[in-house]
Amino acid sequence: MVLATGNYTKDIFTVGAHGLGRVNENIALKAENMYKVFGRRSAEVVQKLQDGQSREELSRFGTAAVIDASFEVRRGEIFVVMGLSGSGKSTLIRMLNGLLPATAGAVTIGDTSLSEISDKELRLLRQQKVSMVFQHFALMPHRTVLDNAAYALEVQGVEQSEREERAAKVLERVGLGGWGEKFPSQLSGGMKQRVGLARALAAETEVLLMDEAFSALDPLIRREMQEQLIDLQRELDKTIIFITHDLNEAMLLGDRIAMMHDGRIVQIGTPDQILTAPASDYVEQFVQDVDRSRVLTVESVMDASPEDVEFVSRPGMTPVKADTLLSDVFAVSAANEKPLAVVDGQDQVVGSLGHGTLLSALSNPNADHPKTLVEEQDKYQRPTTAPQAEGAGVAGGDAPSADDDKRKGGVS
Ligand SMILES: Nc1ncnc2c1ncn2[C@@H]1O[C@H](COP(=O)(O)OP(=O)(O)OP(=O)(O)O)[C@@H](O)[C@H]1O
Ligand SMILES: [Mg+2]
Repeated sequence: MVLATGNYTKDIFTVGAHGLGRVNENIALKAENMYKVFGRRSAEVVQKLQDGQSREELSRFGTAAVIDASFEVRRGEIFVVMGLSGSGKSTLIRMLNGLLPATAGAVTIGDTSLSEISDKELRLLRQQKVSMVFQHFALMPHRTVLDNAAYALEVQGVEQSEREERAAKVLERVGLGGWGEKFPSQLSGGMKQRVGLARALAAETEVLLMDEAFSALDPLIRREMQEQLIDLQRELDKTIIFITHDLNEAMLLGDRIAMMHDGRIVQIGTPDQILTAPASDYVEQFVQDVDRSRVLTVESVMDASPEDVEFVSRPGMTPVKADTLLSDVFAVSAANEKPLAVVDGQDQVVGSLGHGTLLSALSNPNADHPKTLVEEQDKYQRPTTAPQAEGAGVAGGDAPSADDDKRKGGVS
């Protein structure tokens, strides 16, 4: 059973002219009921899994590395696959570009169903549509940095001067301008990983697969690479599937996260959703050490009942933007005895954030917020008549907002 939650939508699947599964323009990649079983009786194991037998019961027949995985990755999204060692992440990502054939299930990239195409077309797809960045760089030692970065273009048959020009540009983009003539052995680990990233970016494929791409780097360099990836993604609008076993990295990078456990995807959701509503004990154990204040936004914890909204819609209440990270709201909350008025992008009041709500969001992971503003009304001398909401919201001060820098709030 796949407990795929979050924003998983089924309505985008349409039947194409030849009865092939096609995905709509917002979806870059779709995986449906994918299985990978290593062993000679793999098809039989899939059947038995579908009949309800467990992975453990079937272990003598083969290793069920991926079991019934289904998800869709939206264009321009960073989709993180997260799980402990051996949970099936690498096996899953290798099936997405056909490096590993699936035992059962289907992958569709754009309009192309992987099972419908020849080996040659599959190779073309890897050159033109899906690049991969590997954990251990996989650079060619006898080639210069520039030639390594240009490799995918060479394979695509791009003529030398053009590919060198394009590779030089991406090297510049990943902070390696001027390093083109060096050889990989002259580079640090972080720099090698940048070359790996440059090589994948140079191919200008829409989809980028990254398998533990930053795991071999030391923490500071890793952090730098994470931030660079976020910047690149914003600028180039790639679709990125990023594998990690580090939840902080997953929370920092992921628009959505798929949690894998023993071959199965047990939850798909935004960092907020994973943190506030873990689907299983396994996921809950993962999230317990995460700094919640750097993942949760005001919107995800605010009180939004009509009474709360009405109360903070009075003139003079201090506004805060709904997408602000909690870590950025402590100071303004502490400076205000009254709850903050949470406003949306149009400065409309959408909720309230009192001290109690803020604290309970941080301290009590899965319980309901114990107090609402309504319960605290005496303390705040709630007026008996409804105040005027005054259209565009509240007076006073610029609302702080995490805005685009939300992810840069940093989780490490
Ligand atoms: N070629 C193979 N032959 C047999 N078993 C395999 C093969 N590749 C992977 N497995 C098994 O499949 C399971 C999932 O492995 P996989 O490499 O996908 O895990 P992972 O989540 O990427 O782990 P890690 O975080 O250590 O990279 C493991 O039990 C592994 O031993
Ligand atoms: Mg792996």
